[in-house]
Amino acid sequence: MRPPPAGVDTAFGPGKVILLGEHAVVYGSTALAVPLGVGVTAHGSPAEACSFRLPGGLERRTRAQLLAAFSAAADAAGRPPVRISVESSLPMSMGLGSSAAVAVAVSGVLLRSATGRAPSARRLLSLAGRMEVVFHGTPSGVDHACSALAAPIAFRRRGSGPPRIRRLALRRPLELLVALAGARRPTRATVAGLRERQARWPVRYGRLFREVGKVAEEGVRAAEAGDLESLGDAMNVNHGLLAALGVSSPALEAMVARLRAAGALGAKLTGAGGDGGAVVGLFRDARRAEQQLRRAGVTCFRARVEAGR
Ligand code: PMV
Repeated sequence: MRPPPAGVDTAFGPGKVILLGEHAVVYGSTALAVPLGVGVTAHGSPAEACSFRLPGGLERRTRAQLLAAFSAAADAAGRPPVRISVESSLPMSMGLGSSAAVAVAVSGVLLRSATGRAPSARRLLSLAGRMEVVFHGTPSGVDHACSALAAPIAFRRRGSGPPRIRRLALRRPLELLVALAGARRPTRATVAGLRERQARWPVRYGRLFREVGKVAEEGVRAAEAGDLESLGDAMNVNHGLLAALGVSSPALEAMVARLRAAGALGAKLTGAGGDGGAVVGLFRDARRAEQQLRRAGVTCFRARVEAGR
């Protein structure tokens, strides 16, 4: 017998920024991701049956995807008698891990309702992963791993086995500025376009993926050692490689240039990119840059990633 859920339950899934290694991570290279303070909160209240309340104002396709993802996770959790709703403080579909944050928050409430206790990281990862598959097709898993662990991570896929996920202890906090460079196509489409190029010219693209992986591993070591200049340089080089992979755009390039001109130690597109999405800059102090960009009408926010575990 499963215990009935007592009162309203909530769970939070943070958004994330990938500082190094997106796209190549799909092909087995290392990525470095850090959680954001903003994210998605899921609320669960006792109900007759397991159900999901869709947020208003979503496109039909997004609504259908959310319901399908919820249904996959609900089935896997044994359909506990809870009605779940979500609210988000995260820009959606911008490369900041909104779908993973939804998956982690919803999975957290489902698992707690099903078992009456806080889920282990392993169960949370596995259930959120089921939802991410519905959202993205074949996600690497870096987004929901970062959200579920709510910690900076180095992430690497390993064949068909579980990924290697390492929580990072940063020597110094990271001061980031995240700026939005306009709407973008879905992650799935950008990943599929790159997969076609990779399948056609595997040797060339394989070289680029391996180089991204090496730069990401160097960046992980720099972050652990507190060498912000080296981490920033790794981000700059990674951005160049992402442009070579064909996932940047004029809007993203302009925003990267803006962040560098505003004093970033490093700046790059983050997430799937494509025709728009988000750019992340690493700063010693991002306050002036934030004001400068805001005055110029750019939507942006600062994010601080704390040192230590
Ligand atoms: O834009 P996002 O948050 O969906 O980022 C996806 C990251 C990719 O590496 C492009 C895809 C993946 O599955 O890892």
